[in-house]
Amino acid sequence: MKTIIANWKMHLGIRESLAHTRGVLQIMMGHETFPDVILCPSFTALSEVRKVLVRTRVRLGAQTMGPERFGAFTGEVSVAQLDDAGCQWVMLGHSERRLWAGETDAMVNAKMKLIAQTSLMPILCVGEPDEVRRTGKAEEFVTRQITEALQGVRLTNSARMIVAYEPVWAIGRGTPAMVADVLAMHQLIRRVVLQHLSLKEDALSVVYGGAIDGENAYQFLREPLVNGVLVGGASMKLQEFEKILLAGRDVMLAQSQV
Ligand code: PGA
Repeated sequence: MKTIIANWKMHLGIRESLAHTRGVLQIMMGHETFPDVILCPSFTALSEVRKVLVRTRVRLGAQTMGPERFGAFTGEVSVAQLDDAGCQWVMLGHSERRLWAGETDAMVNAKMKLIAQTSLMPILCVGEPDEVRRTGKAEEFVTRQITEALQGVRLTNSARMIVAYEPVWAIGRGTPAMVADVLAMHQLIRRVVLQHLSLKEDALSVVYGGAIDGENAYQFLREPLVNGVLVGGASMKLQEFEKILLAGRDVMLAQSQV
């Protein structure tokens, strides 16, 4: 299975989000074999998008959540509220949150623990900045991010989890990471996560994110170690997103014939 996640960031109002959602459903129509799709609109569009997704295969995700269960935290949205809004997934530790909203590994860890008590599932985002890669310490950096995020976390047996490897220097840029580097990192991530959590192998998906578009998606998706992609900019252009979704479908069809 391949999973394709759309991160619409702070773009798309309610009406645009609905139009996009309907467009994605249209693309999927008639395809039996198709990647899992998770759409992550802004908070304001969640409930409306949810209505369109009822009885479809597409899942709803939030882009972040607050680090507390409830309380006087003006502006935050709790995991229970996301559950209430119909989300199945929530992104944690996206590098833009780490950069602009001061999200630390300790906060990501607190959020992981809150999620573990609900039926929501985490999309944990990790990835090194440029200067760390240049000093050859990328693997160490990502290992630390995962170790701190998962400290003391117990997921239930039925839980699923996605870890998105998103090197900070590739996000929102024209050039993605090299496939060989992504594969090495995916191998490391899978190993480190399974050291910390008692998840079944196939309950963990490791996906790549950063400058994915309709042209380059296939070269990542065709790799068995890459369980999917997390797409920002290109997920908001329907034609581009269609190419990515169809690349995922092609890979799944080809792999089912082997
Ligand atoms: P991008 O963003 O696809 O625009 O590089 C990826 C992300 O924000 O996760």
